[in-house]
Amino acid sequence: MKGLILSGGKGTRLYPLTYTRAKQLIPVANKPVLIRVIEAIREAGVNEIGIVVGQTAAEIREALGDGDAWGVKLQYIMQDSPDGLAHAVKISRDFLAGAPFVMFLGDNVIEGGISSLISDFADNHWNCQIVLKRVDNPSAYGVAELRPDGSIEQLIEKPTVPPSDLALVGIYMFDHHIFEAVSEIQPSARGEYEITDAIQWLIDQGHTVFPHIHEGWWIDTGKPTDLLEANSHVLEEICPTIAASAEIDSDSSIDSRVTVQDGARIVNSIVRGPTILGKDTVIENSFIGPFTSIYHHCEIRNCQIERSIILENSRVIDIDQTLRDSLIGRNATVKRSDGKPSGIKMNLGDHGNLWV
Ligand code: G1P
Repeated sequence: MKGLILSGGKGTRLYPLTYTRAKQLIPVANKPVLIRVIEAIREAGVNEIGIVVGQTAAEIREALGDGDAWGVKLQYIMQDSPDGLAHAVKISRDFLAGAPFVMFLGDNVIEGGISSLISDFADNHWNCQIVLKRVDNPSAYGVAELRPDGSIEQLIEKPTVPPSDLALVGIYMFDHHIFEAVSEIQPSARGEYEITDAIQWLIDQGHTVFPHIHEGWWIDTGKPTDLLEANSHVLEEICPTIAASAEIDSDSSIDSRVTVQDGARIVNSIVRGPTILGKDTVIENSFIGPFTSIYHHCEIRNCQIERSIILENSRVIDIDQTLRDSLIGRNATVKRSDGKPSGIKMNLGDHGNLWV
């Protein structure tokens, strides 16, 4: 079995963060979503992984290298234009030749890994297995309709009138028949070669496509609210640790669900879990958490922060009101200004939002 991770795309709904960073590299609970995906595939026993990359290729390559650090062998596959998930499979044919594969969308975060799925697929003689999840808003996804025997009857990409509430999760397993499917289909109304249409082609040709209905949580991290939600779930899952090199003074109190990474310093503060504080981050006279991830080299002084994500090298200083449900990018500063004339002052990035 091989793995294929799709990591192209512009991430426009996550602007401004994704102006300067590939969306799959944005950390959730201080770990990029893409690394979680690699670890999930590796834990299922698959070590040879292709990564389809687009315009953020250089950044992704720099972050992941040859995969050694995660115990996998990575090969990069360049997709020159974002022509869809089925197109990504088509251009990966040489890499994938000779083995069934699992395809995982690099921005999907799922509870519980994929080991059971992979063994399910290996034990049955299906041509394709998809993962489905019951959702409240199926129109935002590919949607499946099942036959009485549990196999898939029909798949429709983002239907206005969904035939069920079963959304397609971004994890798929295929045998070699998919290569024929991806070369037979036509682009959809949004101009992309849809994997949904390729799987429908398999069904129409009489191939077997079965689902796994996922019962845990699943998040497609397309929007800021999705990132915050994924962050909360992942923080609840991680096993908290306090690095030996972290410093926590005697005036601070930290509850048992807090992770403190190397060199972080906590002074006269209360930290409520689940929360993670990154390497060399300083927290002083503050109240942090729950459900908060503060990445490496940040400085937080005289603040209250709750259910938020703050990326590296950012500073939040002397803010009177609680900062809640917030997403702050890299090298950002949020600071009280006592200067005259008084008022709100900002340098806000394109597509940024400020709620006051
Ligand atoms: C893609 C698939 C869709 C699936 C979703 C899961 O949508 O086309 O069927 O439900 O991923 O994340 P996209 O993210 O391209 O809109």
